[in-house]
Amino acid sequence: MRLDKFICKSSTLNIQQAREVIDAGLVIVNDQVADKPNAQVHENNTITLNGQPLRARPFRYLMLHKPASTVCSNIDEAYPSVFSALSIPDSDELHIAGRMDADTTGLVLATDDGRWSFNIIRPNQLCPKVYQVRLRDAVTSSTAESFKSGLLLQGETKPTLPATLEILSPRDVRLTITEGRYHQVKRMFAAVGNRVNSLHREQIGHVNLDIPEGQWRKLSSAEVSPWTVD
Ligand code: URA
Repeated sequence: MRLDKFICKSSTLNIQQAREVIDAGLVIVNDQVADKPNAQVHENNTITLNGQPLRARPFRYLMLHKPASTVCSNIDEAYPSVFSALSIPDSDELHIAGRMDADTTGLVLATDDGRWSFNIIRPNQLCPKVYQVRLRDAVTSSTAESFKSGLLLQGETKPTLPATLEILSPRDVRLTITEGRYHQVKRMFAAVGNRVNSLHREQIGHVNLDIPEGQWRKLSSAEVSPWTVD
C-alpha cells in the first residue's frame, strides 16, 4: 500500500494532510525519514508519525440490500441516504461501488477501499451486473437481439456492449450488463420503445444478494479478494 494511503488508514488525516506530514519529515519508516508519499509500505514495517506508531485499520467491505426511495449517497438528498436507512456504524467513511437510482432496489457494495471499488467499476473490467426488470410492455425477441448486438442510447455515439436478456415472463426479464452508464438499464429499454416499471439488482460479479431488504452484512474474504490488488 502507498505510504500516504497507509497514513490515512491509520490516523484521522486525509490524503493531503498525510502528504504534508511526509513533506515535513514527521513520518519514519523502519528508522528512516520517509520522503515519498507513493513509497510502498506493508503492515509489518515500523511506521511512526511524530514518534507515535501507526497501525492500519482494516478496510471494510459490505453488502447492502438497498430499499426503494433511498439514494446511493452519504448524505440525504431528495430521499434519505441508503446508509441512514441501514444504520451502519461510521458510514460516512464508506462509499458505494456502482450507484443505483433512488427507485432501484437490491445489491449495493460499499467500502472505504477506493482501489477495490475502482476495480469493480472501471470500464475495462467488464464486471457483470445482473438486474431483474419489470417492464411496462411485453418484451419481444427482437429486444434480446438488439441488446446482444449493442444499441445506441439517446445522446450517445458509442453503442452499448453486448448484454444478455433472459425472458422470465412477458413483462419480467433478467438483464446482464457489463458497463455502468448513467441510467443504463432504463435507457436501454427506452431505446427499444419500452419502459422500466421496477428495477432490482441481484448480482455484481461473483457476489449475489442474499440478505433481506434493509439489511447489510460484511463480505467474506472469498467475495472481497477477486477485486483486491496491491
Ligand atoms: N440502470 C438504471 O437505469 N438504473 C439503475 O439504478 C441501475 C442501472
